[in-house]
Amino acid sequence: MHFTMKDEILKRFLNANGEPISGQVLADELQVSRTAIWKHLQTLKQEGYEFETVKKRGYKLVTVPDKVDMGQLQQFLKTTRYGRQVHYFESVESTQLVAHELVREGAPDGTVIIAEHQTAGRGRMMREWESSEGKGIWMTIIIRPEIAPHQAPQFTLVTAVAVVNAMKAMFKNFTPEIKWPNDILIKGKKTTGILTEMVAEADRIQALLIGIGINVNQQMDDFPEALQPIATSIAIEEGEPIERVHLVANVLDFLEHYSDMYVKNGFGFIKTLWEESSGTIGKRVKATTLREVVEGEAISITENGVLEIRQANGEVKGIYSADIEIL
Ligand code: BTN
Repeated sequence: MHFTMKDEILKRFLNANGEPISGQVLADELQVSRTAIWKHLQTLKQEGYEFETVKKRGYKLVTVPDKVDMGQLQQFLKTTRYGRQVHYFESVESTQLVAHELVREGAPDGTVIIAEHQTAGRGRMMREWESSEGKGIWMTIIIRPEIAPHQAPQFTLVTAVAVVNAMKAMFKNFTPEIKWPNDILIKGKKTTGILTEMVAEADRIQALLIGIGINVNQQMDDFPEALQPIATSIAIEEGEPIERVHLVANVLDFLEHYSDMYVKNGFGFIKTLWEESSGTIGKRVKATTLREVVEGEAISITENGVLEIRQANGEVKGIYSADIEIL
C-alpha cells in the first residue's frame, strides 16, 4: 500500500492537533471534490477514527484508534527508506510469509509489512509465535543490503541493538537487555523476538526478511498460561499503555541508521553497542545446540556474532546457533 489520498487527509487532521479543518479547504488544497473528501472521511470512520462537525469551520478529529497504520506512521518517521512503503493488515498468517511474496515481486529496500494479528506467527527454530490481536508489534522489514550471505547473522544483532536502543530512548521505568542472539528481555522475561530469514544467491544477498515481534500492550492474563512465567510486555514494565506506532517509528529510525553504518563501517561498533546492552556476557549460561549442551561463562561475542563460552575445564567454545538459558 502506498501513501494514498486518505493517508494524506489523515496526516492533515493529525497535524491539526484537534483543531477543525474545512472540507472546502482540504478539497482545494488536495485538488479533489468535496464528495471525495467526504468519502475518505467515511472510510476513516470505519477504521475507528471519529470526527465531529464544527459549525462553519469543518471537521475535527476527536478519536484516533490504536492502530499502526501508514498515515500515523509517516507522521513520526525520520527515515529515508525504512517504512516508506508499508503493507498493513488487520490479520495475516505471518508477516514473514507476506514478505517472501513481496521480495519475489521486487519490493524495495525498507518495505515494511505490519499486522494487528497473526494467525500463524513464526518464531525461531520452527516455534510458534504468540501474536495476540492489537496488543503487540508484529512486523517484517525487507532489507536489501550489499553484503555477502555469511554476514546475514550479524544483521540479527544489528536489529537487536536497534530495538533495544529505541526502547531505551522511549522508556524510563526499565532497562531492556539483549539475550544472545536476539531476544530482548526486561527483568529476565522476554518482550521481543527477532527472526532473520534470507533470500540469496551463492555469493549475494537478494533480501533479508527481518521479523520483529514486540510484546507491547499485553497484560499478564493476555499471555497463555505457559508463557506467563517467561514473557512480559512493555506496558507491564513501564506501568502504562504504549502508543505502538511511536515505537515502530523509533525502531525503524534506529534500524536504518545502524544498518547503514554497519554496511559502511563493518561490525565493530555494533559489537560495542551490543555488548553495552547485553544481559548475557559475564553470566553463567547453558547453550543447547542441535548437537550438544555447553555450560560455562559467556565471555564475548566475536566479530561474526558468535557467542564464546568458557567451560569449567577452561576450554572456550564458539556457539553459532543455540537456545541460551541464563543460570
Ligand atoms: C523468536 O524469538 O523466536 C522470534 C520471533 C519473531 C516473531 C516475529 S512477529 C513478526 C514476524 N512474523 C512472524 O511470523 N514472526 C516474526
